[in-house]
Amino acid sequence: MKITVVGAGAVGATCADNIARKELATELVLLDIKEGLAEGKAQDMMQTSTLLGFDTRITGSTNDYAKTANSNVVVITSGIPRKPGMTREELIGTNAGIVKGVCENILKHSPDAIILVISNPMDTMTYLALTSTGLPKNRIIGMGGILDSSRFKYQLSLRLGCSPADLNAIVIGGHGDTTMIPIIRLATWNSVPVTRFLSAEQQTQIVNDTMVGGATLTKLLGTSAWYAPGATGAALVETIVRDEKKLFSCCVALNGEYGQTDICLGVPVIIGKNGWEKIIDFGLNETEQAAFNKSAEAVRSMNEVLKTL
Ligand code: LAC
Repeated sequence: MKITVVGAGAVGATCADNIARKELATELVLLDIKEGLAEGKAQDMMQTSTLLGFDTRITGSTNDYAKTANSNVVVITSGIPRKPGMTREELIGTNAGIVKGVCENILKHSPDAIILVISNPMDTMTYLALTSTGLPKNRIIGMGGILDSSRFKYQLSLRLGCSPADLNAIVIGGHGDTTMIPIIRLATWNSVPVTRFLSAEQQTQIVNDTMVGGATLTKLLGTSAWYAPGATGAALVETIVRDEKKLFSCCVALNGEYGQTDICLGVPVIIGKNGWEKIIDFGLNETEQAAFNKSAEAVRSMNEVLKTL
């Protein structure tokens, strides 16, 4: 198994670190445009291999895509991260060109790769990856909903005073501060609906805190978060390489599912060795479907911006 992570910034490097620790690949390539950065981080990680006990060979590359040849899975984290006060959407002009170029270069050397998109604004970058490469839709997956679901569980665990591992909760829709939809109605604590334990006010607060989860961290850190985004990227890789058929919220191409077409948006999907394999219909109620439609509208108008670049 060979995996490439494009972008050796904080998110890409953390993702690579997690992939190595979990031994998801025999070969892991970290690539960056900045001279020496990927090589340096790859060497640094390799020097943890005997301490952490992993057997993945990590190499770095400064923009030499030949080194990524025959990758099974490629994670794209390239692009600029957001600064405090910025929305993910404001990154579109810069990141669209970067992501398109990365996809072209990757496919020259790994025509069969499954592509995971983490770069922001993620929903639009996933749509761009899909439309610019013309790849089968199941091989393009945007990573946002799993991260947002993990943040949702964290917020729920704080209010419930429980382990996040005992919670089941999903965020669908866009990966934007105003476009994501944490579905609290369906969240459970060891199969019991969490709504049973939380007041309406607490529920609203949890949903709101989840939606600005990334923005809160950007404010604290001065840049985008990386531990959770990197670990989530690796969790997605794991599900693919181990063909686990896990159900995650991922950004995928919709063709009538959830009432939307010609868009990539976060929905519950089964992930396995072929990429995303099946969209699962969670049966949204009217309010949730209206929120989903609104989210789609916002993402669609961002996708329109791609035409003007
Ligand atoms: C975040 C970025 C990675 O949500 O989108 O932290």
